[in-house]
Amino acid sequence: MKVLVLGSGGREHALVYALKKSKRVSEVIAAPGNGGISDVCDVFSINPLNESQVLDLTLNQRVDLVVIGPEAPLVAGVADALKKAGILVYGPGKSGAMLEGSKVFAKRFMKRHNIRSAAFDVCSSYDEAESALIKRTPPLVIKADGLASGKGAFVVEDLSSALKAAHELLVEGKLGEAGQIVIVEDFLKGYELTAMAITDGNSYKMLPLSQDHKRAFDNDEGPNTGGMGAYAPLPQVNEALKARIENEIIRPTVQGLKADNINFTGTIYAGLMIHDGDPYVLEYNVRFGDPEAQVVLPICNVDWGELFLSCCRGTLDELDEITVNGSAVGVVMASGGYPEKYETGYPIEGLDGLKDKDDVIVFHSGTKKEESKFLTKGGRVLTVVGLADNLKDAKEKAYHAVSSIHFKDAHYRRDIAWQAFV
Ligand code: AMP
Ligand code: GLY
Repeated sequence: MKVLVLGSGGREHALVYALKKSKRVSEVIAAPGNGGISDVCDVFSINPLNESQVLDLTLNQRVDLVVIGPEAPLVAGVADALKKAGILVYGPGKSGAMLEGSKVFAKRFMKRHNIRSAAFDVCSSYDEAESALIKRTPPLVIKADGLASGKGAFVVEDLSSALKAAHELLVEGKLGEAGQIVIVEDFLKGYELTAMAITDGNSYKMLPLSQDHKRAFDNDEGPNTGGMGAYAPLPQVNEALKARIENEIIRPTVQGLKADNINFTGTIYAGLMIHDGDPYVLEYNVRFGDPEAQVVLPICNVDWGELFLSCCRGTLDELDEITVNGSAVGVVMASGGYPEKYETGYPIEGLDGLKDKDDVIVFHSGTKKEESKFLTKGGRVLTVVGLADNLKDAKEKAYHAVSSIHFKDAHYRRDIAWQAFV
C-alpha cells in the first residue's frame, strides 16, 4: 500500500522512517515534509490544513492510507474529509480531536468517565477567573481552552501573575479565540510522563512510556518549548504504576470515547502528572508526541504499516501486544534563541558520517535541503536518537552523535533522561 504522512516535524520523519520498514508498505510520501524527509521519500508542498489540497494529493497520488502527524489538521477535521472520500486515515476526526482541541471538553470528558485529573473551574470572564484563582492557594494554574502551540498553559507562583495571565487571555485576547474561555485548576506536585496508546476505537495497544523535557535549559530551567528531548522506556516506573496507567487512564479513555459515540482511530496521548503516587491527566493529545515519537517508534517490535492499517480497519484486537526492543534517548538540537527569537538558514555539518548507522538515527524537524546540503529552517532543527540495549548506552550514543553535528548557534540540553538516573 502507498502511505501519505502529513506534517513536517521530527515526529513525521520518525513516522516515515517507521513506515518505510513496513512489509505492508510499498511507498511512503509526505506533505509538506522537511529537508530530512525529502531525502528519503517524495514530498509535496501542500498546506496540510487545507482539506481540498490534501484530498487532491491523496487521489492524484493514489494513496491508500493517510497518517496525520500534527494536531492542527486533526482539529480542523481533515480526517473526516478523507474518510468521507473513502480513504483510510490514521488519526481521529474532529469530534475525537476535541480531546486536544478544547481543554474544557477534555476536562468534562474526564469528569464524566471518572478519569483522574486536577479539580477545575471553567471561566469565560475575567471576574469568574478571578474568583476561581482567589479560592486556591498558589502555585496557580490557568489554561486557555483552545490550541495554542504549547503557549496556552500558565503555572505561576502568585495571584498577581495569575490575574495578569487571566487578563491577557480574557480581556486583551492575547491568544484570540483559543483564550476566550479558560480553565483554572488545582496545582499538582509530582513528576510528569507521557503515556501513549494506539486505538481503533474498540481495542487499544499500549506503547512504552516516555518522558519529554519541556524547558529550554538543563535542570528544567528556562521557558517552555515544544520539547527538548525524550527517552523511552522509563526504567524508574514499576509494573504496578504501569498497570494503573493502563487501567485507570488509557482503558477508560478508549471506553469513554466509545460510550460518547466518538469514533476514534489514532493515537491517544495522555500527559500525566504522578502526584502522591497516583496518575493524573494534565492534558490529552490526539497524536504522537514530538519528540516522544522519535524515541518510541524505533524501539517498538512492530510493523507500523500493519498496525496503522489494522486501526483503520477496526481489527487491532487481532494483533499481539506491542513489545519493546532496548532503549532510546533523543536529544533535540535547536537554533540558538529558541523558543524565542532565532536565526535560520545555517548549514548543518556532520550528518553524512551518521548515515546508515544502526544505533543512531537523526530525525529532521526544521531543516531544508538545498543543492544536497541541509540548512536550518526552524526552532527545533534535529532530534538525534541513540539506540541501545539499555538507557545509559543509548544516552551515550545520542550525545556522541550530537557532538559530531555542527551548525551556528546550536543549542541542546545536556541532561536528557536525567530522571532515569537519580
Ligand atoms: P498542559 O498544556 O496542560 O500540558 O500544561 C503544560 C505544562 O504545565 C505541563 O506539562 C506541566 O508541566 C504544567 N502543568 C499543567 N497543569 C498543571 C497542574 N495542574 N499542576 C502542575 N503543573 C501543571
Ligand atoms: N511533546 C509534547 C507534545 O508533543 O505535545
